[in-house]
Amino acid sequence: MEIPLSVPNLNSNIVDNLRECVETGWVSTGGRFIAEFEEKVAAYVGVDDAVSTQSGTAGLHLALEVLNIEAGDEVIVPALTFIAAVNPVKYVGANPVFMDNDDSFCIDPVKLEKFCAKDCNFTEQGLINNLTGRRIKAIIIVHVFGNMADMPRLVQIAQKYGLKIIEDATEALGTRYSEGPYSGKFAGTMGDIGVYSFNANKIITTGGGGMLVSGNQKYLDEIRYLSTTAKDDGLFFIHNDIGYNYRMLNIQAAFGVSQIDELETFISIKKKNYELYKELLGSVRGITILPFRARTRPNYWFYSIHVDKSEYGQNRNELMSRLIEAGIQCRPVWKLIHTQKPYLPAQSFRIEKAEGYAANVLNLPCSVNLTEQQLAYVCKNILT
Ligand SMILES: Cc1ncc(COP(=O)(O)O)c(C=O)c1O
Repeated sequence: MEIPLSVPNLNSNIVDNLRECVETGWVSTGGRFIAEFEEKVAAYVGVDDAVSTQSGTAGLHLALEVLNIEAGDEVIVPALTFIAAVNPVKYVGANPVFMDNDDSFCIDPVKLEKFCAKDCNFTEQGLINNLTGRRIKAIIIVHVFGNMADMPRLVQIAQKYGLKIIEDATEALGTRYSEGPYSGKFAGTMGDIGVYSFNANKIITTGGGGMLVSGNQKYLDEIRYLSTTAKDDGLFFIHNDIGYNYRMLNIQAAFGVSQIDELETFISIKKKNYELYKELLGSVRGITILPFRARTRPNYWFYSIHVDKSEYGQNRNELMSRLIEAGIQCRPVWKLIHTQKPYLPAQSFRIEKAEGYAANVLNLPCSVNLTEQQLAYVCKNILT
C-alpha cells in the first residue's frame, strides 16, 4: 500500500473552468476567475477585499514591501517553520531574528515579550535591538500546520512595541477562533496583513497561488498595484514604481473558485480523520497526537505525533524509516530555519522548545481523500 502525505482533492468542476479558460483564451493575469476567487476568499474569511498572487511567497514579499520593511530593518520570525516564511525578509534586504514556539507550534508570546522587554529598547524611533542597534519593525506570525497562534497576546505585544504583524496563514485557511476576544476571526485577519497559500499540498489548491487580506484597504490597493508591475497606464505603459509580475493567473483561479466551495467539507473530513487517528493511537505509550489550540476551530491541515523513545522504544527517525518502508509517506518537521546555512549568522533568542519538536515530531498522512482503511494501516504500522 502506498499512502501519500498530502495530495490535492480535485473535482470535475475544475476541468470545466479550465476548459473555459482555454476556449476563451483567458489563461494569464486577466479573466473572470481571478476577481471571483478574490471575492470568495474575502467573503469566506469575513473581510471586504483580498488580493491574489502567484504564490504565498510572493504574497509575503509584497506584504513586507507595503509595510515599508527595508534594508537594515529587522523582523522577528519563527525558527520552526517552512523557510519560505523567512526568505522574503531577505528579499527586501532586512534581517530576521529567530524566536521559539509554544505548544501550538507557533511563536511563543512569553519569549517574544521577554525579548522585547529585556533585549531591546523601545524608543521614539521604535523598538531597537540592543545587540545590533537596528530597528525591529515587524513580526511574521506563522499559523503552523493549521494551528492558531496565540493572537490576543501576540497582538497586544506588537501594539505595545510598535511592531507590524504579518500573519503567514499559508497553512491555516479556515482556522478560526471559536471563543474569546477574537471569536469568529479567521487566521490571517487579526494582524496588519494576512497571507494564504494554495500550493498543491495545502488544504485547497490552485496548483500554486497566494492571497492577501488586510483591514487596511490602502495596503491591498498597493499590493494589487505592485503585483501587476505597478502599471499606471495600460495603453502607454506608464509605471511610477518598481513592481512585480506576481498576479495570480486565471487558470490558477479557475481551480480556486471551485476548491473554496469545498473547504468546509474538507475541514470536516480532516477533523474526522484527526479524531480517528487520536482514537487508534490513544493507547500507544510514547506516541502523542499533538492537539490544536483550545477555543479555536482549526482547519486540521497537518497531523503531528510526538514520539517519546523512552516509552515507545524507537525514536522518531526509526519510526519514520519503518513507515516509509511500509509505503507510508511521512516526514519530520522542518530543519529549524536558524540552523539552515543562509541563516547561520542571524540572531536567535533562546530556541529551546523548537529543538524538541524538530527531533521528535512526525507528520502523518493527512490528505482529504485518505481512506479509513489507509488510516488504519498507518496506525497498525505505528502500533507494531
Ligand atoms: C509556512 C509557510 N510559509 C510560506 C509558504 C509559501 O507558500 P507558497 O508555496 O505558496 O509560495 C508555505 C508553503 O508552501 C508555508 O508552509
